[in-house]
Order: sequence, then C-alpha cells, then structure tokens
Amino acid sequence: MTAPLLSVSNLTSGYGDVQVLWGIDLHVGEGEAVCLVGSNGAGKSTLLRTLSGLLRARAGRIEFQGEDITNRTPRQILGHGIVHVPEGRRLFGPMNVVDNLLTGAYLRSDRAAIRHDLDRMLTLFPILAERRYQAAGTLSGGEQQMCAIARGIMSAPKLLMIDELSLGLAPKIVDHLGAALRQIMAEGLSLLLVEQDVATAFELTSRGVVVDSGRVRISGPTEELSVNPMVQQTYMGIA
Ligand SMILES: Nc1ncnc2c1ncn2[C@@H]1O[C@H](COP(=O)(O)OP(=O)(O)O)[C@@H](O)[C@H]1O
Ligand SMILES: [Mg+2]
Repeated sequence: MTAPLLSVSNLTSGYGDVQVLWGIDLHVGEGEAVCLVGSNGAGKSTLLRTLSGLLRARAGRIEFQGEDITNRTPRQILGHGIVHVPEGRRLFGPMNVVDNLLTGAYLRSDRAAIRHDLDRMLTLFPILAERRYQAAGTLSGGEQQMCAIARGIMSAPKLLMIDELSLGLAPKIVDHLGAALRQIMAEGLSLLLVEQDVATAFELTSRGVVVDSGRVRISGPTEELSVNPMVQQTYMGIA
C-alpha cells in the first residue's frame, strides 16, 4: 500500500438539522486515484465539501500528510494542497480563460513556477490555448470542465478532488478529459473522483468507495468492484 496522503475516519457532517454523512472512513494514498460512487443524494458532494472545509465536520477526523486538518478553513485546506473542482465548474464567466486559470494560483507567489504551470495547462489542453482570451462563460461544457480542472491544478495541489467529471459531457470529451487526468496523475498527483458514471469512474481509478445514504457500503480495488454482482446490479445497470 502507498503511504497515506488523506485519511478520514468516522466523519459526520450535514446541513442544519439534517445529518448526511454517518461515520465515513476513507483514505487516499500518495499518488493514488480513488473514486467515490453512489446514487444521487448519497452524500458524495457533501463529503467533498466537508473535506475542503466548506462544511463543518460534526465528528470524526480528517488527516492530510499525517496532520489533523479537521475544520480548518477552505483557504488553509487549499494551502495544505487539497483542491476541490466543484460540480458545475463555477468558473468566473465574464473572465477569460487565462485569468480564470490564474485565480487558481492566488495563494502562490512563485511567479516563474506559476507561469510554467500555466504553460503546462495550455499544452495539456490545446483547446484552452486556442481560446485563452475568450470569456470562460462562452466555452462549451467540456471546455469549461477542462478550464475548471486546469484552474484546480494551478494551485499546485497534492490531491485533486473532482465532483462529477462527466456530467452532461459527450463520451468523446470524457475520454479526452480522462487522458489528460492520466497524464497529470503520472506526474504524482493524487485524485479523489466523484463520478455518476460508475464504469468511467472504475476505468480512471484503482480503488473505489461506494457511498449509500451517507455511509460507506463497500470499498475495494476497482477491478474487484467492477465484477461484484451487487455493484453491477445496483450501480452499473448490469442485470
Ligand atoms: N445545501 C443543502 N442543504 C440541505 N440539504 C442538502 C444540501 N445539499 C445537499 N443536501 C442533502 O444532502 C444529501 C446528500 O446530497 P449530496 O451530497 O449532494 O449527494 P450526492 O452528491 O451524492 O448526489 C441529500 O439528501 C441532499 O438533499
Ligand atoms: Mg453530488
């Protein structure tokens, strides 16, 4: 097993009087790609929001590189190297692509390295280079997703968390995004991927965690989960 990067134990979270997560245990190793799958409303986005500090943990513990980061602020968590690409991308629509990418680096002061990473992202996603001075709000859904992921990487994270990679995108675009993610991962970045298309999720990651009603139902290597009859029937539409 790889060294633990993110380690979550007995995590509880929710909104107001509504408890959504009921004792989640999860870990992501150094350089590992893990997916989080489950039905609509299972609590996947709530889990990412709690990990990135947007929601308070009510109980449990979140450790990153051995340090307790439970209930740190979003800014502190970003500073530790955890970045959250939210569902629906949330780009700054009137701002152009390059300026959106640069907002990802707002906590950094290493100008030469920022410039280098910007060039790297424009090489990784040539369509973004073509559209670099175009308002992000005028990009296609797939281009916006590329821009959101690239913006996340501009923070120089250790762990990239993506909520709903493929939602609303054509299969060809999803393949393209997957290939780009593989390239980035080859450079050592770890990934926690929330993905409603379970087959895609299993293709892109080596370990999976299935969440049901705010609890981990089953977890394991994706090659095992993908042939598990319960997982196939309940989550992959395979009878
Ligand atoms: N802002 C919110 N306020 C209250 N309840 C919410 C909010 N966001 C999500 N929920 C509830 O939390 C549960 C989990 O939602 P969510 O984490 O978005 O699930 P998933 O991402 O797995 O589809 C659902 O029952 C949902 O209705
Ligand atoms: Mg969600």
